Amino acid sequence: MWTKDLTVGIEEIDSQHRLLFRQLEQLLDACLSGREQEEVLAMLGFLDGYVITHFETEEGLQLRYGYPGYESHRAEHRALLERHARFREELGETGPTRDFVLRVNQALIDWLSNHILTVDKAASTFLLKKMGLDADKIHESSCSA
Ligand SMILES: [Fe+2]
Repeated sequence: MWTKDLTVGIEEIDSQHRLLFRQLEQLLDACLSGREQEEVLAMLGFLDGYVITHFETEEGLQLRYGYPGYESHRAEHRALLERHARFREELGETGPTRDFVLRVNQALIDWLSNHILTVDKAASTFLLKKMGLDADKIHESSCSA
């Protein structure tokens, strides 16, 4: 579940993060309530595409503003996509079983939460300064809202 402490202060990125978490909640809900396989597959497909779109957004901003941690940040994104490719292979073999969906769902939530709290926040602090905003003020106001 998305919580306020995951806010990085850049609206474009925060709204994408919120949508990713919302999709993961819906996927979990669909799995637990025994929804049709096609629906679960469509949700997994959407997540696949949206994760790539989201990574491109982050990497694009980092390139534009000359973020020095770009390469290592990109490497983290690549590692997740490789792991995801292995999940895809497994999906091809077993189909969207309950066990599979629960594992993928939890793995993505864990990865995203950890990634956002560490490397995304670090990148966003840099980007906000480059964008001429005060990162501390943004973070303060989002905490007290
Ligand atoms: Fe990231």
